[in-house]
Amino acid sequence: MNFSQPIIDPFDYVVFGGTGDLARRKLLPALYLRDLDGQLPASSRIVGSARTELSAAGFRELVEASLREFIADKLDPAVLARFLARLHYVSVDAKAARGWPELAALLGDAPRQIRVFYLATAPELYGPIADNIHAHGLQTPETRIVLEKPIGHDLASARAINDRVGAVFEESNIFRIDHYLGKETVQNLLVLRFANSLFEPVWNHNGIDHVQITVAETVGVEDRGGYYDHTGALRDMIQNHLMQLLCLVAMEPPATLDREEVRDEKIKVLKSLAPISRDDIATKSVRGQYRAGAIKGGPVKSYAEENDIAPGSTTETFAALKVEVRNWRWAGVPFYLRTGKRMPEKVSEIVIQFKPVPYWIFPTGSDRAMPNRLVIRVQPDEHIRLHLWTKEPGPGGLRLRNAPLNLSFAETFKNNHMPDAYERLLMDVVRGNATLFMRRDEVEAAWEWTESILDAWNSAGDRPKLYTAGTWGPSEAVAMIVRDGRTWFDEQAGYGAGD
Ligand code: BG6
Repeated sequence: MNFSQPIIDPFDYVVFGGTGDLARRKLLPALYLRDLDGQLPASSRIVGSARTELSAAGFRELVEASLREFIADKLDPAVLARFLARLHYVSVDAKAARGWPELAALLGDAPRQIRVFYLATAPELYGPIADNIHAHGLQTPETRIVLEKPIGHDLASARAINDRVGAVFEESNIFRIDHYLGKETVQNLLVLRFANSLFEPVWNHNGIDHVQITVAETVGVEDRGGYYDHTGALRDMIQNHLMQLLCLVAMEPPATLDREEVRDEKIKVLKSLAPISRDDIATKSVRGQYRAGAIKGGPVKSYAEENDIAPGSTTETFAALKVEVRNWRWAGVPFYLRTGKRMPEKVSEIVIQFKPVPYWIFPTGSDRAMPNRLVIRVQPDEHIRLHLWTKEPGPGGLRLRNAPLNLSFAETFKNNHMPDAYERLLMDVVRGNATLFMRRDEVEAAWEWTESILDAWNSAGDRPKLYTAGTWGPSEAVAMIVRDGRTWFDEQAGYGAGD
């Protein structure tokens, strides 16, 4: 079977921050993989751009080394040669005039209808880059600009960026990326909810007890201490990735998949979130910071000992929240969110816990009458599992077992390439399809809510609780959910069988 995508319209892709970590790990490998799939037109060019002085040959070497490091098993000599030939490099100063005339000359040399400027830089540079694009006449009618997260540091800075970029680009040409929306299982949430009739009748406060969203990582802050120490888990992960997951679980069915309709529904969810005030922080929020410990047997240092971390830093590397969505569908259904670095495993998943049956008629197992759960595993080992009670085969008695109906993507779609989120999203930008990108008001609504928590933490002088690297965060995060008579889902622990 051939699952290749059709060839896309010719484009020039300019990546600012072209020598940076994101470009090397994700963006350039994603573009290569689209080339491998035959999706890139022969004439399309990719232009790396950064302050570093580098020749085109030097950039090609750097990209080739990155591809060898991150996707060695996907390298095909002919495609690699074709891909490297597409690469160009122009050194520019985002805040000054240096390099912009050269970039203009290169782009004007063989003008493509579609031009993409991908800003994989610090957000402080988004405004100056947009201004320079304008000042040097680099906009064609089909020019799009892509803004990586985080868009700002708080509501005010996000608004300032949106204003400044918005003064140069139409909103329809601004693509605010949240790569979680490009993940296969996340897109599948829309299909699961809106292409199957069985969930909708119970997808509300009548059928659902609560929702858990976990995004756990084993990595620490690596070499990103300078960025991370003034960001923290709430800004880095919850304001964007976990909020987007929450929106897709909680939103009303959009009338169509049109970008405005999907985004209109998501923003209604964001606007329904109850702010978390200073009085709530003790019961509805937990901040943590990792101390030294071990991940899969290997010792790791504490957050405080990582590079570029301010002495006595109170930045959180873990956050757990109990979130209330104040609307008809979700009244009384808590959404428990948690994310952290240096957790025991890398796992992102959404757990929908349904309500229990009204009365348990079976002779045994009532103490284990765990209600049904739908587990949507975003990564790794992408799957959707619906945990049901079933009778264990046997001639005597009635033994119940909680067993999952398992839709494993790896097994079901063996012949398909599971694309990285960026592969999908980078091509959506060229297509001009912004359904999986965030609109200005969405980003600002997410900041507004996030800021309520940041303000509450700050005004209360809340300090992160220390947790040992390689554990699931501070014990307060467990206490937060246990107080409500619930527990965090742990697939490894299993459910046990009635006997
Ligand atoms: C990024 C965060 O947006 O997402 C990182 O800045 C985090 O801190 C990363 O590690 C996680 O992405 P993924 O796709 O590995 O879950």
